[in-house]
Amino acid sequence: MDPVAGQPGIVIRPSTDADVSAMIEIYEHHIRHGIGDTGDFEEDRLRPDDLKRRRKNMRSKRLPHLVAERHGMVAGYAYAVPFRKRPAYRYTLKHSIYVHAGHLHAGIGRRLLPALIEACAAGGYRQMIGYIDAENEASLRLHEACGFARVGHLPAVAYRHGRWADSVMVQCPLGTGSSDQPSTWRQEAVAREAQAVVPVG
Ligand SMILES: CC(C)(COP(=O)(O)OP(=O)(O)OC[C@H]1O[C@@H](n2cnc3c(N)ncnc32)[C@H](O)[C@@H]1OP(=O)(O)O)[C@@H](O)C(=O)NCCC(=O)NCCS
Repeated sequence: MDPVAGQPGIVIRPSTDADVSAMIEIYEHHIRHGIGDTGDFEEDRLRPDDLKRRRKNMRSKRLPHLVAERHGMVAGYAYAVPFRKRPAYRYTLKHSIYVHAGHLHAGIGRRLLPALIEACAAGGYRQMIGYIDAENEASLRLHEACGFARVGHLPAVAYRHGRWADSVMVQCPLGTGSSDQPSTWRQEAVAREAQAVVPVG
């Protein structure tokens, strides 16, 4: 049996507004202590209304925002947003994942990230991108274990806690990836062809 799948007491579910304060507590801890994709700036602070608004926007775009509960407590959260705004990038997402400091290395990431991948694939998205601090061993291992490949190394792109830091770009195909056309793309092409037909007679 997969030891991670067998972890007792972990439940993955969509987040609700009632989870906002727990998610902020998790995020703030990593801002203060972490090497994740978080900085050490006051502007990085997440406010409850911002998070509620983000959740609402994401729901309307059918983007997943998930929490992991462990023994009934919110122990982690993860979400994905569009990789870029321009329409050509509409099948590509970038994501974030945070696990509560008191629940690290307990298999939560290994449950939460695959659930996020599955939800994004189900939404018709085709690629998922992550940026990870090059020294963030836990995140690099988690992502590789979940099917992400290292596709780029970006030297000295961050400055935090008084020094320059490299990022690693990781990527995971979703669903059928680039092996076929997205279904909505086909529908768009059919609609364009139908419009181009000039009635005769
Ligand atoms: C990265 C993070 C999400 C991992 O979550 P987690 O629940 O602790 O991870 P898991 O327990 O599911 O372990 C996942 C993998 O990472 C490895 N790992 C976890 N913690 C580790 C650590 N401190 N050092 C090295 N490897 C570690 C595990 O061995 C496991 O790999 P394996 O399956 O090959 O054994 C968590 O450390 C975190 O929230 N970090 C702060 C925020 C952050 O960095 N987010 C990611 C930004 S890109």
